[in-house]
Amino acid sequence: MTINSIKNEQNLASMNTFGMQVTAKRFAVFRNLADISALNLAQEENLFVLGGGSNILLTKNFDGLVIKNEITGISVEKEDSETVTVKAGAGENWHEFVVYCIKNNWGGIENLSLIPGNVGASPMQNIGAYGMEIKDVFVSLEAYEIATGKLVVFDKKACEFGYRESVFKRALKGKYIITSVTFQLSKKPVIKTSYGAIQSELEKMGVSQPTIKEVSDAVIAIRRSKLPDPKELGNAGSFFKNPVVARAVLQRIEEEHTEVPHYPIDGNHVKLPAGWLIEKAGWKGKRFDNYGVHQHQALVLVNYGGAKGQEILSLSEAIIQDIFKKFDIQLEREVNIL
Ligand code: EPU
Repeated sequence: MTINSIKNEQNLASMNTFGMQVTAKRFAVFRNLADISALNLAQEENLFVLGGGSNILLTKNFDGLVIKNEITGISVEKEDSETVTVKAGAGENWHEFVVYCIKNNWGGIENLSLIPGNVGASPMQNIGAYGMEIKDVFVSLEAYEIATGKLVVFDKKACEFGYRESVFKRALKGKYIITSVTFQLSKKPVIKTSYGAIQSELEKMGVSQPTIKEVSDAVIAIRRSKLPDPKELGNAGSFFKNPVVARAVLQRIEEEHTEVPHYPIDGNHVKLPAGWLIEKAGWKGKRFDNYGVHQHQALVLVNYGGAKGQEILSLSEAIIQDIFKKFDIQLEREVNIL
């Protein structure tokens, strides 16, 4: 790639799952390290690295350089009778990677089926669903350091994984481009169906001894029933994180709502589903013209077509303020705002 392949005024609508009609002043695609080096990124004052575009809300035209990660390739690095170590290019589609692993009967990410986005974003926010998180199977990643042009390896500890968090969302934000991720999967998969909805979905399917393919099918069915398909309805999955609160806060809410769902974190803290709080506050299914709160999962904000990023941002702000007023709980956005 040469610097000539930078395009001007690129429309990003097809590259973000909210379908926001915004442009990047300059835009380029990269498929390997040589492409990245040729871009001289250390000189760029305003740079944004785009993956699958499934966790961002674009609120205005981007007055800088957007580069899109299209590094592909899946390779087996190591294997024995029990495990396989697989490396995937950061630009691989996450769900296609999951399907590939399931076809090979490599277990460990089947519960993460149908999560939108690319492999490179999976460690960035430690993606998780239905009782599994990427950190459980993560080995290492390679990342290009923008300031120096060096390729650096990060092991699990260096990534500082937390709930929908990693060092790449905090201290190292904007400093690296993840180029590949390596996972260790199991050839003798241990099925994880303890998450209530999976078990009942499998029962509906008439399956009692599920394979990883059947677990994946169950997860896909649950996701399809609750979460809008970005191809049909613009959205970025959970817009907010589930708040972690002191047990005293839970007890206060239980005085009025004995049914409030909660998950233990430690002796003193629990995680509350933000979707439940937002539904209780009356926002679920609310539609304002061409945007709103999804009717089946209040954690998801949707663009019915033609909404502005700024409108969805204002809606999220109104929800945050209302939840604070009604429950004295401060919600945080999960989606990146640009
Ligand atoms: N709930 C409601 N009303 C709602 C939504 C949820 O009452 O509108 C209640 C449910 O009845 C349930 C609880 O809240 O008791 C949890 O709901 P759900 O199982 O749908 O999961 P969640 O906590 O809302 C999280 C992830 C999802 C992931 C699911 C499944 C976050 C921020 N979100 O949602 O991730 O798919 O668990 O594991 O942690 C994403 O990150 O984009 C995403 C979709």
